[in-house]
Amino acid sequence: MNKTARAHTNIALIKYWGKADSKNKLPLMSSLSMTLDQFFTDTRITVSEKNEFFLNGVLQAGKNYQRVFTYLKILQKKFGVSDNLRVESTNHVPTAAGLASSSSAFAAMAGAFCACYNIQLSKRDLSKIARLGSGSASRSIYGGFAIWQKGFDHDSSYAYALDETPVMDLHLLAIELNSNPKKLSSTDGMLQAQTSPFFIPWIKRNEQELSAMVAAIKAQDFSALGQLAELNANEMHAINLTANPGFSYFEPDTIHAIHLVQQLRASGIECYYTIDAGPNVKILAQLKNVKEIIKQFLSEFENVKIVNASFGPGLSYLDQ
Ligand code: ADP
Ligand code: DP6
Repeated sequence: MNKTARAHTNIALIKYWGKADSKNKLPLMSSLSMTLDQFFTDTRITVSEKNEFFLNGVLQAGKNYQRVFTYLKILQKKFGVSDNLRVESTNHVPTAAGLASSSSAFAAMAGAFCACYNIQLSKRDLSKIARLGSGSASRSIYGGFAIWQKGFDHDSSYAYALDETPVMDLHLLAIELNSNPKKLSSTDGMLQAQTSPFFIPWIKRNEQELSAMVAAIKAQDFSALGQLAELNANEMHAINLTANPGFSYFEPDTIHAIHLVQQLRASGIECYYTIDAGPNVKILAQLKNVKEIIKQFLSEFENVKIVNASFGPGLSYLDQ
């Protein structure tokens, strides 16, 4: 009881960006991600006298509090319980900065909820309930590469492991250009994106891009994986720009980072980028090029923080 759950953040290589059903967080496309070793969330839930949510030691009110307790009430209803709860969560990942904090947050919260009530669930069922908190959290139940199959209802929309312990030479360098919380959440951004004339073509391309990505992973083909991930991210951001009204998560430094990746590639250092709902950039690279890429980024950007991540594990519980 009351164990701390730890979930690692995942970054999508084939992105989830559009919902068929907002209430149940059913996506319009399947997605594929890499769970990271360097970023994670620890969450503990205990029955208490009142509902309280502490994030990084600070008592939360407003939107963050609402989101957590709206979610926990859904779980309480599902499992027939109704106590007040104290939620304590620590993010070892910047919050709401496009580094996928909600993926580890709601996977850890689903795990912590089950620990609090001593509920035993399969990974598949954990994935489904994590999805109800944040779609991307469905994938953070697993380590390595995970696929979230879109499904068509609560029972058919869950993630599964493609390979929990990959041996592929793949690093993800998180280039933290601006770690302040963004103004437009992923939830709101993806809703607005659905007004783009390119939204339907984006959905139509999903199956083809997902199978190509699975093939690249199975073949351990870094070039194919990087090219596809970069294309998929560019498509997502093109949809944002062409929405009505159009918007972008990019900042001037984001464009600068894209140019640097293109220059590095032209000079024979193979690397690719992927970008989520925020200004920060993630570089996909092989070990042999990691040092040089970090050196180049440090010389081009002032005050940049770079984290060299690789594959992380799935949901776990900490010994206490
Ligand atoms: P990102 O995933 O890029 O960090 P999102 O907009 O998808 O941004 O999600 C960020 C939101 O998720 C935060 O504004 C907050 O409401 C919620 N969140 C983040 N971390 C936690 C946490 N540890 N516990 C509960 N909710 C969290
Ligand atoms: C760009 O999972 O945060 O990171 O389901 O509304 O909580 P909600 O959205 P969220 O969106 C993630 C968007 C993304 C791509 C991805 O992780 O697949």
